[in-house]
Amino acid sequence: MKLWQGRFDAPTAANADLFNDSLPFDKKLWRVDITASIAHAKMLAECNIIALEEMQRIVAGLEAIYSDIENGKLEICGAEDIHSFVENELVSRIGEAGKKLHTARSRNDQVATDFRLYVRESYDAVIKSLGALVTVLVNKAQSNLKFVMPGYTHLRKAQPMCAGHFFNAYAEMFLRDMERSESSKQRMNVMPLGSGALAGTSYPINRNITCSLLGFLRPCENSLDGVSDRDFVAEYLFNASMIAAHLSRLCEDIILYSTEEFGYFEIADAYSTGSSIMPQKKNPDIPELMRGKTGRVYGHLVAILTTIKAIPLAYNKDLQEDKEGLFDAETQILNCLNIMAEMMDSITLKTEKMALAAESEFACATDVADYMAKHGVPFRTAHSVTGKIVRWCIENNRTLQNMTAEEYRGFDGVFGDDIVEIVKAKACADARVSFGGASSYSVKQNVKSIKKRLKKYIK
Ligand code: ARG
Repeated sequence: MKLWQGRFDAPTAANADLFNDSLPFDKKLWRVDITASIAHAKMLAECNIIALEEMQRIVAGLEAIYSDIENGKLEICGAEDIHSFVENELVSRIGEAGKKLHTARSRNDQVATDFRLYVRESYDAVIKSLGALVTVLVNKAQSNLKFVMPGYTHLRKAQPMCAGHFFNAYAEMFLRDMERSESSKQRMNVMPLGSGALAGTSYPINRNITCSLLGFLRPCENSLDGVSDRDFVAEYLFNASMIAAHLSRLCEDIILYSTEEFGYFEIADAYSTGSSIMPQKKNPDIPELMRGKTGRVYGHLVAILTTIKAIPLAYNKDLQEDKEGLFDAETQILNCLNIMAEMMDSITLKTEKMALAAESEFACATDVADYMAKHGVPFRTAHSVTGKIVRWCIENNRTLQNMTAEEYRGFDGVFGDDIVEIVKAKACADARVSFGGASSYSVKQNVKSIKKRLKKYIK
């Protein structure tokens, strides 16, 4: 039965029902809907709006519905939405008392409250999965402190760095996502319940009671805003989009670095796929698909921003469109984070290839110029002389590492015999001891700091 049937003579058309109903997707809210209803009933009794005995029957009825759904004894179907389903079921079980549950409440403040409860829990799950991934990344950084790899700009070899620097860079991104999720969770932890349909209520309710029963920080202070605010949905989807972007960047690096051309990483067989025609292929389908999911998550963000952009105050049915995108984004992000943590853990590093690559293509040229500058040559002059050295090497098929000190001195008298040691990739990386730099020393400090910041979120 529809909650609002009284006003109507004729039933709605079957296709209008199909179009209007949200039960097929909002049934996901059943736990939070029942939890919020129990809190509401307790508050009603405490404020003497319903009798104690009625409240007890309502709460017992709701608890029984909860456990029946949980145990698979009660199927969620046959109603317009989850709120109608629970209320209909309650009335059919306990009769008249059940009809009092909706006193001083509207589905408008009910759905806004339910969804916030759902999103709050979802943040906990996302933060947990992010934490697991950051742990894998920072451990990977720690176990690769002694290896070097080339760092890139413009996808051209730029400067050698400690291999751990790469993993920590992603650990920092996902740690930022954890911080962002936590702060969004605090911001959205405000309760709309008690806003009624739009204008509050004339019953002597006490919103602080429901607020503390449901663990909200405070009740919202404007009922019009309370029922129609979906900023928290947009913010969740932005956070999900940012996570997707970080995952996608990591996927891109994994795909590149595991090619024959780069050959720094080996993805475990467990996270690789083959080709139906080319027997030799080992394809990176998993990171490719994960990179592809980004578009879908961004899509949900654009969808909600568009949906809310011209909603007149207060609740309008457009807002029912807030749920499916968030549910899907949540599923995709949690899947991707969990798979990424396992795939990343299984990746092996081809450290010899990485070390060779870190010295090739003149990646140590900055260190030659820096050597000169540290010995009194103005940096701009040192840059130009080093550029000539590089050109000479290219023309004579030589490298910065196989030049003799004498040959260096042919370009400028400032070079001492120590230059041949200075231009080794490991020495170049480890010279970058500046705070946040790529030396193994700095990376080790970064590992310590990441682990410390991570602890705040690991319960
Ligand atoms: N299914 C609705 C939603 O998700 C619940 C609120 C319905 N309120 C209303 N006035 N029709 O938005």
